[in-house]
Amino acid sequence: MNTALLEATDLAVTYASSRGPVVALQGLNARLGAGEFLSVLGPSGCGKSTLLKVVAGLLAPSGGSITLEGAPITGPRRDVGIVFQQPTLLPWQTVLDNVLLPIRTLGMDGVAGRQRALELLELVGLAKFASHYPNELSGGMQQRVGIARGIIHDPKLLLMDEPFAALDAMSREHMMIELQRIWLATKKSVVFITHSIPEAVFLSDRIVVLSERPGRTVREVRVDLPRPRNIDTMASPAFASYANELRAFFSTLGTA
Ligand SMILES: Nc1ncnc2c1ncn2[C@@H]1O[C@H](COP(=O)(O)OP(=O)(O)OP(=O)(O)O)[C@@H](O)[C@H]1O
Ligand SMILES: [Mg+2]
Repeated sequence: MNTALLEATDLAVTYASSRGPVVALQGLNARLGAGEFLSVLGPSGCGKSTLLKVVAGLLAPSGGSITLEGAPITGPRRDVGIVFQQPTLLPWQTVLDNVLLPIRTLGMDGVAGRQRALELLELVGLAKFASHYPNELSGGMQQRVGIARGIIHDPKLLLMDEPFAALDAMSREHMMIELQRIWLATKKSVVFITHSIPEAVFLSDRIVVLSERPGRTVREVRVDLPRPRNIDTMASPAFASYANELRAFFSTLGTA
């Protein structure tokens, strides 16, 4: 395999809390190749968001190592984009200004930045909503603004923490297809956190499965379904077979 873009080796994170130390991750191993779509699938509380914070450079590991292009991650980086579980848009700013926020913070918003924001709004299907305010959009539309904001500064790596968890089932399906389309168009490397088996199977090249807390890698599944995947993919026997295998695995862990 080529050199990994991102590599976690025996990663461990322990939080200090008033009730004593909480071991969130222990023995987590994962690697992400350039351009790859990797999902991290695991039960609630197993340390998925903790992993994302470590990759984002917001939290230092207590053990093991995490590297991006071979160098340890020591703090937040410009070449990483994050999409959170909630869209977290600024309600008093327009859709366009919300998308521009990361590059404004970096002092990079000029005419070119504005042009790129408009192109990304086109890509996420919201070209007509640039001057709207977040409360005029549905949850799924707000989440698409969040995705455009996550990639405006052209990061190599996009981190997504259960970005569709707050959406209803139909919007989720729609967003899965949208995200695949955006990923195929931009070819970003993605770490996608989820506890939804169908989401992980539909979107991923590979799935890393974590155990209950402390989260450690217990399984890795390569998903060989052809792309682009669509609604028919979800109804196919091959899709069901991946999903059933993962479901059966979680039931042996007692977490299904
Ligand atoms: N700041 C903190 N201090 C102490 N313990 C924490 C802190 N943040 C998280 N934890 C604990 O670490 C464990 C992992 O939390 P984390 O948020 O990473 O889980 P998760 O897999 O993202 O869960 P979910 O699927 O519900 O979002 C949990 O037991 C949580 O209570
Ligand atoms: Mg979480």
